[in-house]
Amino acid sequence: MDRPEEEGARPSRRSVLWGGAAAAGVGAVALSGGDALIRSLRSPGEAVSADQVHGDRTHPFHGARQAGIATPPQAHARFVGVDLREDVDSDGVRRLLTLLSDDAARLTQGRSALADTEPELASCPAGLTVTLGFGPGLVERVDPGLVPDWLGPLPEFDTDRLEDGWSHGDLLLQVCGDDPLTLSHTVRMLLKDTRAFGSVRWSQDGFRRSYGAEPQGTTMRNLFGQVDGTVNPEPEEADFDPVVWCGEGAPAWLRGGTAMVLRRVSMDVDEWDRLDRPGREDSVGRRLDNGAPLTGEEEHDEPDLDAMTPLGFPVIAEYAHIRRARSEDPDERIFRRGYNYESEGDAGLLFACYQRDPSRQFVPIQRRLDELDLLNEWITHIGSAVFAVPPGCAEGGFVGQTLFEA
Ligand code: HEM
Repeated sequence: MDRPEEEGARPSRRSVLWGGAAAAGVGAVALSGGDALIRSLRSPGEAVSADQVHGDRTHPFHGARQAGIATPPQAHARFVGVDLREDVDSDGVRRLLTLLSDDAARLTQGRSALADTEPELASCPAGLTVTLGFGPGLVERVDPGLVPDWLGPLPEFDTDRLEDGWSHGDLLLQVCGDDPLTLSHTVRMLLKDTRAFGSVRWSQDGFRRSYGAEPQGTTMRNLFGQVDGTVNPEPEEADFDPVVWCGEGAPAWLRGGTAMVLRRVSMDVDEWDRLDRPGREDSVGRRLDNGAPLTGEEEHDEPDLDAMTPLGFPVIAEYAHIRRARSEDPDERIFRRGYNYESEGDAGLLFACYQRDPSRQFVPIQRRLDELDLLNEWITHIGSAVFAVPPGCAEGGFVGQTLFEA
């Protein structure tokens, strides 16, 4: 763990060097030589050993499923919604998806894109994944008969304050990775591929803790400080597949894929600041320190929804988020893989979830939250998009190929 130490040490070493150089009247030391000089000043003992550098980690791009869903969440994410030009037809969609898949296959493995203007920026994949999702507008270009009935705008909820500029889209690029520079380069390369076919409708950046800041598998915290993601199907558990991956009931082209709902949920952190700690814990039904239910001790303790206070009130209130979000129906579950966001004075959650069929999974849960959830005092849904995420592809193939084989 001496990577942070080495990064922390760098500025002071640099400032000492430049300060010293200036004082000695050698301020004209060429900038390009500066780094080499700094490197040569480092003693061998300070070197970062190969096992501490994690930039070369890769996730396979090819396979039965697209990466970026069951993949352990990386530190950074960008979700980009693209609108296709009106004249893009089925052939155009095929060409676009071929280009994107080819470049995504290269970039995720640390190789430069086909027409990469900055190939050096591709050399550090750092757990990069690229996941493609399709809005109804893209599927219709290929064949309107292939659009699943749930693929389109969600029903309206009373507490929604949706903005068009954060909603909908024909094509989703979901790019996740542990290095923000690689991520930025990857998005730029993929958007070059899309340029002749459409334009960016929205782009949303999300973050979790930096890679290595906490042990892998630690549940994330959101900007209200809550442990967020405790009760969530785990990719290695048997019940993950039936919750997430489309099967028999889905259109043939989508089997092995999933349905994604992306909601931009603004969180009023300043109002939240005014609430005392017991009030904050009461609103969700869980403790802030370790995420344990108010009826338990540890994060993963099962909440006791029947427990009463001595005064006869439920310990986990009727309006508590976890009581409202849960269902007796085991099929009515979703896999959450969200990211925090902060942008131009607004902060919140990019609530990304995956399931077989949003109309049977996300919608009934959100309906209950819309009706009664104390969190609604501090949160507002301002963006909404639904995408069909097709299965993965084999080497030489492209994501979305199944659309053309249907
Ligand atoms: C900014 C918005 C939201 C915040 C801050 C938030 C926060 C939380 C927190 C702190 C928990 C408890 C820990 C956990 O199990 O993850 C939780 C649980 C949960 N949330 Fe949310 N949430 C938000 C939006 C939503 C939305 C939009 C949905 C779905 C429609 C949702 C569905 C769930 C589910 C299914 C659980 C697990 C419930 C259980 O079975 O215990 N949440 N959320």
